[in-house]
Amino acid sequence: MSNNQNIYLIGFMGSGKSTVGRLLATAKKRQFIDLDHYIETNQKMSISDLFESVGEPGFRKIESEALQSLSHQSDLIIATGGGTPCNTQNRKILQTGTVIYLQCNLKTLTDRLYTSRSTRPLLYDCDTKAKLYNFIRSTLIKRKTCYEKFDIKVKNNDSSNELINSLLQLI
Ligand code: S3P
Repeated sequence: MSNNQNIYLIGFMGSGKSTVGRLLATAKKRQFIDLDHYIETNQKMSISDLFESVGEPGFRKIESEALQSLSHQSDLIIATGGGTPCNTQNRKILQTGTVIYLQCNLKTLTDRLYTSRSTRPLLYDCDTKAKLYNFIRSTLIKRKTCYEKFDIKVKNNDSSNELINSLLQLI
């Protein structure tokens, strides 16, 4: 990988993109940016309020513009949103950097997301663990091909600290 390429973390909601991104940024002495947080700061609105005000299509447009604008910078470590790679134009942008796909099993995702579902508009209807599990399973089936288009895939079901050590040998 070239030294100043951005590093993009991709994966389903709850796969640990922000946690791993922060640890990686510290280890590599790079700036970390969480794409959702970047959008919230620019739009002066939470992701939940944004979904309510412009709907999912409006959010996707803003998300693509934010990704595009960050891609003009270098040396960043960026945690993307779970849906970011599910758009052709976004994938072209991601391909200009190094992309790491964080894979998690269904149980891990369900457990992690059950407690944080109130901040994630796509999960509002998942008021039981069974509904959440089914939503994750069916959405992952649809998104799998988008996530798997990238070369570096790592499992992140357990400790993110251990994962960082193996990642540092890869990139
Ligand atoms: C989304 C994931 C969220 C956020 C938005 C939509 C998705 O980001 O961008 O709620 O489509 O999977 P995280 O993956 O950081 O939760």
